[in-house]
Amino acid sequence: MFTTNQKTWAEEMYAVINKKLEATCARAAGKLPFYPEKDGFYKDNPTNGGLHWWTNGFWPGMLWQAYNSTGNENFRTRAEEVEERFDDLFNTFSNLHHDVGFMWLHTSAANYRLTGNARSRVRTLHAANLLAGRYNPLGKFIRAWNAGPPGRTIVDTMMNLPILYFASKELNDPRFEAIARNHADTVARVTVRADGSCNHISDLDPVTGDILETPAGQGYASGSSWTRGNAWALYGFALSYLHTSDLRYLGISKSIAHYFIANLALSDWITHADFRSPKKPVKYDSSAAMIAACGMLEIAKHVDEHEKSLYISAAMNTLNACSDKFLCKDTEKDGIMFGASSLYHAQESSLETDTSLIYGDYFFTEAVLRILGKDFLIW
Ligand code: GLY
Repeated sequence: MFTTNQKTWAEEMYAVINKKLEATCARAAGKLPFYPEKDGFYKDNPTNGGLHWWTNGFWPGMLWQAYNSTGNENFRTRAEEVEERFDDLFNTFSNLHHDVGFMWLHTSAANYRLTGNARSRVRTLHAANLLAGRYNPLGKFIRAWNAGPPGRTIVDTMMNLPILYFASKELNDPRFEAIARNHADTVARVTVRADGSCNHISDLDPVTGDILETPAGQGYASGSSWTRGNAWALYGFALSYLHTSDLRYLGISKSIAHYFIANLALSDWITHADFRSPKKPVKYDSSAAMIAACGMLEIAKHVDEHEKSLYISAAMNTLNACSDKFLCKDTEKDGIMFGASSLYHAQESSLETDTSLIYGDYFFTEAVLRILGKDFLIW
């Protein structure tokens, strides 16, 4: 599916990623990285969010991908440490929300898939039950977060649905998949717009499922187009297609991809934080490009030969453009893909803007491994 030049580029990036991972692994043992501090290094779990913070699975996710492609046992040991640390969360429970998929797909599900660890299977099923427990059967959606109105949905949840598909397959029980599909259908109705752009937040009537309002969330404003949210939807619907074979989901993923590609072509293939925001100040979010690239590479696997090149060349264009501009090869610093922002309105002084964010690094790693055929499906 990939040309020699594309593979050569990916080999070069793979070498960078492995060197960076080895160096960071030695420095960050026992830590949960999110973004580098001012000194250039990760500190443990730097937000006020604590162990339950939604990004904490991406570091072990990178380690499992690296373990799978290199066989380096150190990567596996470090990933297993995080998985065990997460066990406390099953006791505290209160701060967990729709992002349990991000957390346990990248820890216990990855472990179970690669090693067959029975305890990891139980952890994954436990997390899947927590996500299923957030389902509102009246409005047919999975509730987002814990604060906010009871009818709140966010586009990010699409990427957590694979833990429900996992549970249905493992238990031979259709309930989990039914919840995932009902939620995806609601997102398709209330969040994806006719032009392929997406809301971040859609607040629904918790009894009827009718749309009430669409607050701005992490994007520029209500009605704008938060780039990472579009990327979550693009990849999330592609994964729902992968797990259900329902062609409607592939079509939705493609329409979001077409909107994404049209906008990327206007900005030299670098992702700004919101597709519908003022031109100045310039706010980049490379993490959106990394997620979208993985989604486009997934779409490419399911379309006819003559269609593949659209998705592959768009993914390669944005991976190349972002790596030319934002890649940090320096092994004396943590973080790989810079130019990321956690939200459009982050304070200029915030360490979560114009930086590397652990999920951007995870999806960059996954994209490179996909091109080399060395990835495994973590989703
Ligand atoms: N809430 C998930 C994200 O920031 O993308």
